[in-house]
Amino acid sequence: MKTKIIVANWKMNHAFDEADKWLESFTKNYAEKKNELKDCQIVLCPSVFMIDYVDSELMDGGFKKLDSILKDQKKDISEFSEEELTSIILSERPVKLGAQDCHYEVSGSFTGDVSADSLKKIGCEYVILGHSERRVGHFESNEIVAKKVKTALEKDLIPIICVGESKETRDLNKHLEFVYKQIMNSVPKDVKFKKLIIAYEPIWSIGTGVTPSLEQIKEIAKLIKKIFNEKFNNIAEEYFMLYGGSVTAQNSQEIFSVAGVNGLLVGKVSLDAEEFFEICAFAA
Ligand code: PGA
Repeated sequence: MKTKIIVANWKMNHAFDEADKWLESFTKNYAEKKNELKDCQIVLCPSVFMIDYVDSELMDGGFKKLDSILKDQKKDISEFSEEELTSIILSERPVKLGAQDCHYEVSGSFTGDVSADSLKKIGCEYVILGHSERRVGHFESNEIVAKKVKTALEKDLIPIICVGESKETRDLNKHLEFVYKQIMNSVPKDVKFKKLIIAYEPIWSIGTGVTPSLEQIKEIAKLIKKIFNEKFNNIAEEYFMLYGGSVTAQNSQEIFSVAGVNGLLVGKVSLDAEEFFEICAFAA
């Protein structure tokens, strides 16, 4: 079991050149600390048009590694089984790929939208759903998020379900009730999850440089754990609670020290390969 999940959400940033530089730096750092990071699942969520490109760049790294093994061991490719070849090619991949959204319908007339099935086909394993930038900017209700989660699961994607209150709700001291309702209504009950991942991202913390106190994160982590145990105990094999909102290399360690936090969802800072790697290394 992977014990920690660190997600890079590039949002609408990083196209080809920046992605190349990021991958070069991150892959190099990762190769040096691969063993230490083995309990850490790192998920990269680029813009949707970049996913296929990133996937093939990562594949290239694997082929280069295979080439050097063949040369060093003076062997022919036919001497390796299919499983050995796959494991060599995939061993260099520092990250799994994820998308930032998908539609709840399988296909149809939905201009500009992306289907879960197509994401799976281009190499995605994860999908962020219900991010507040979708809930607020694209008017996505809990019910829409729940439908998306269901479709993602049907297409064998692992959803990362985001929840989190606004500043107004926090100031009114209604955050626990709000997050509870968001989770209960965004997680479909008639499905099975291998991993049920809830990312708590208070809206007032996203992109603002302001993070909740450790006590505030702890309070939500406790709530989520209670919901996992009492409400979802028979729909998921594993549970993860991620924290997201102004995570940096500097604050990541103490956020990780909060009981119940199993991972991080990193926005702005994930654009910087070095700092994002530092966060992964701390997590490990
Ligand atoms: P941030 O974004 O790290 O830039 O605050 C987090 C997110 O929106 O997932």
